[in-house]
Amino acid sequence: MSTDRSHDWDKTWAEVNTTITEQDVWLLTDRIKFRYLSRLVPSGVNSLEVGCGSAKLSALLAAQGAKIVGLDLSAEALRAARDNFSWLRIYGDLVRGDAFHLPFANERFDVVLSTGLFEHFQDPVPLVAEMVRILRPGGLFFSDIAPLKFSLLRMGYFLRGYHKQQSDEYPYSSRDIRAWLEKCDLQNIRVLSSGVVPPLGLLRRIPFARSLSFRAERLWTIFDGTIISKWLGFFYLAFATKAG
Ligand SMILES: C[S@@+](CC[C@H](N)C(=O)[O-])C[C@H]1O[C@@H](n2cnc3c(N)ncnc32)[C@H](O)[C@@H]1O
Repeated sequence: MSTDRSHDWDKTWAEVNTTITEQDVWLLTDRIKFRYLSRLVPSGVNSLEVGCGSAKLSALLAAQGAKIVGLDLSAEALRAARDNFSWLRIYGDLVRGDAFHLPFANERFDVVLSTGLFEHFQDPVPLVAEMVRILRPGGLFFSDIAPLKFSLLRMGYFLRGYHKQQSDEYPYSSRDIRAWLEKCDLQNIRVLSSGVVPPLGLLRRIPFARSLSFRAERLWTIFDGTIISKWLGFFYLAFATKAG
């Protein structure tokens, strides 16, 4: 089974509470991604999230009518995903497996997605290629990549110099991301800097901050694709289609 360079994901998921609750400030980032995806994903499509972790984005898609599958190699991640599905009262299949050898037939899904996966690998191209294999011609490929870079969200982490000691992410650029997708013959590629959001860890401690930041959701996307989000954004969003 292939894995990234150092991370013990079972340990992470056992320690971190990623369940969607009324206190979950991190859901803001998934809601931003969902704003984009919801316009592109019609109700009833078959969607697979690879390295799904807590599968929050897939859960939001299911609430809109998608038939979702989440795959992860960590059993603890799948437990977090199951909790989120219960919280949102949606149904989704969860599969334990390796992103490098997806246990699905060619062209099985209308949509394949990953969030926060590729930046953990020195060469994500085999992962992209495997996702493209199971995507139907004309289907939608979506990924969000949160590389090692400064952002408003992770300001404290960078100012304290933690990124020099403990990161297991690679510092990928939008150009790197585009090159991976081109190598896998994807078409209509769009890579957008995004995720100019406040330091969410701090928001947890401030009364009403969660609901206010969620209400201002559109505000957090106005810099998307600009130089400001390139400097201050937490992630890149990549969209593409498989040749039909
Ligand atoms: C940063 S997390 C993704 C978080 C997720 N987007 C969420 O919203 O919770 C990366 C995930 O990729 C999974 N992963 C890492 N290598 C994998 C592999 N080779 N196959 C399947 N999943 C993998 C990890 O177990 C982890 O759950």
